[in-house]
Amino acid sequence: MNELLSLKDKNYALSGGTGTLGGSIAKYLAENGAKVLLLGRSIDKLKKKQNELNELVSGSTFIFKVDVMDEEELTKLKNQIKEEFEHLDGLVNLAGGNIPGATLKPDQTIRDITMADTRKVVDINLFGTVIPSVILSELMVEQGYGSIVNISSMAAKQTISRVLGYSMAKSGVDIFTKWLANELASKHGDKIRVNAVAPGFFIGNQNRRLLTNEDGSFTERGNSIIKNTPMGRFGDASELNGMVHYLLSDASSFVTGSIFDVDGGFTSFSGV
Ligand SMILES: NC(=O)c1ccc[n+]([C@@H]2O[C@H](COP(=O)([O-])OP(=O)(O)OC[C@H]3O[C@@H](n4cnc5c(N)ncnc54)[C@H](O)[C@@H]3O)[C@@H](O)[C@H]2O)c1
Repeated sequence: MNELLSLKDKNYALSGGTGTLGGSIAKYLAENGAKVLLLGRSIDKLKKKQNELNELVSGSTFIFKVDVMDEEELTKLKNQIKEEFEHLDGLVNLAGGNIPGATLKPDQTIRDITMADTRKVVDINLFGTVIPSVILSELMVEQGYGSIVNISSMAAKQTISRVLGYSMAKSGVDIFTKWLANELASKHGDKIRVNAVAPGFFIGNQNRRLLTNEDGSFTERGNSIIKNTPMGRFGDASELNGMVHYLLSDASSFVTGSIFDVDGGFTSFSGV
């Protein structure tokens, strides 16, 4: 692989690395010579993913039991990475997603919004990105380089019905991406960058029930998404790998504070 795109011997931390999109990115990074530091809350899931990846590329994957909402755990992690790995080249913030209680049913109105669940979703999707970015970027400030990639969503830019908390949180991720990019580049140099990827619709554990029926056919919502996606299909998790690779690598050395749609054309389409 050419030097600009080389991931060899780089250390990348991934929150949500045992999930659908995170698992795919972790595998891709490991296959391309990077060391993958998987952060997650379930040690069983972490071990399973570690075994899977180490079987593919021996010694590629390291696991850390961390809740991305826990500042103390993240501070310990930061110190451990410094001691054991010496440098952290990048962080991909994938922990997040929606919860059923924060999704309005089709026949519900705003009076049915559950505030507690809506707050939870804002917390995990917004602060679950803010807290690890702030704490782990301290390593990048010390070493003078690093790339942070946040995961936004289509729901940040335009209204996606029923998912208020998730949309508010991902809009917050977008502005946080720009804010942190500005702060780090202007005060700590042009080698520390922060960008975001806004995936369109990829079927995973969280949205499978919302988008597909038990027989595999699409729900009404699933069909409506397909109708509004010029490519006429959902994304495959592997189709995020290229964008994340670009943003982590030196090929994007003058790119910071940007948000990249990977959505089969969904955002560019007016629906007409
Ligand atoms: N799948 C899609 O279509 C899609 C579209 C746009 C954006 N996204 C975003 O991409 C990211 C990954 O989504 P996915 O589809 O892979 O979901 P997923 O549920 O498969 O993965 C999310 C992971 O985050 C972890 N997580 C949640 N809370 C955590 C916490 N407090 N600490 C540590 N880990 C925690 C979960 O355990 C899970 O492993 C999410 O931020 C999601 O909002 C997904």
